[in-house]
Amino acid sequence: MSDRKIPLAGVIGCPVAHSRSPQIQNHWLKTYEIAGYYVPMHVEPQDLETVIRSLPKAGFVGANVTIPHKEAVMQIADKVTDRATLMGAANTLIFREDGSVLADNTDGYGFITNLHQGAPDWKPNVGPALVLGAGGACRAVIASLVEAGVPEIMLSNRTRERADQLRKEFGKRIQVIDWVKAGNAVEDASLVVNATSLGMEGKRPLRVPMDGLQTSCVVTDLVYTPLKTDLIQAGEDAGCTVVDGLGMLLHQAVPGFERWFGQRPKVDEATRAAALA
Ligand code: ATR
Repeated sequence: MSDRKIPLAGVIGCPVAHSRSPQIQNHWLKTYEIAGYYVPMHVEPQDLETVIRSLPKAGFVGANVTIPHKEAVMQIADKVTDRATLMGAANTLIFREDGSVLADNTDGYGFITNLHQGAPDWKPNVGPALVLGAGGACRAVIASLVEAGVPEIMLSNRTRERADQLRKEFGKRIQVIDWVKAGNAVEDASLVVNATSLGMEGKRPLRVPMDGLQTSCVVTDLVYTPLKTDLIQAGEDAGCTVVDGLGMLLHQAVPGFERWFGQRPKVDEATRAAALA
């Protein structure tokens, strides 16, 4: 028998059953005929550090991290990338040969890559973006839009202080708009992003009026259950290019898979189908 180590990876969450990461990663393992395994791991917060410290010893090369551990892993990791520090959270762990743990955040990469793939004609410098929300997911959106060179980001959130805080951190390109006035900013936007949880199955609808949408505007929603949210529908009705949120989930998984298993996977229709299965 060969004593070659089979690489293992997984997703750590609590709960974790809802995560689509195993479907995505196992689809790629199969597609690229890589001998490896990717498993869901339900880990309680008090056990997080012990589990993370043990995984490399059991043959794990890394892990994804999901709710509620994305902030806590920052304290546990031996090294944190700049982009994870900027976002205050990590979603991807890499276990290095010496047993040390590197924490990274690939959500911003996932967001911007999905946007470029779904709206190839969108250019960051074409005009202002309107971003709705100011939670954890929104930080990744803002960071990637600033990095991409979007000249102005109109940011609106129900709780204004959270948007003001993001402006403090990300600087003058961010203009905070009252939540009740967000609809007025739509006509000036070249890109509209919903980074709130509104519109998700079981949550309230997003009620920001979209009558001002210009045909040239790109509309994207981080919510992907359902895939066609009311916002995406409004974008379609206005003749806009629309980009649904599933692609962000798929693209954020790419850097982890590549680091762990040594192959850069493609995000294509088959990957989408695997995630939805
Ligand atoms: P995530 O990490 O997914 O971004 P979060 O940090 O809980 O999760 O953020 C959820 C986002 O949805 C926030 O912008 C939140 O607005 P508040 O900061 O005011 O809470 C927004 N959101 C959730 N429910 C909302 C509602 N009923 N009306 C308006 N915004 C809402």
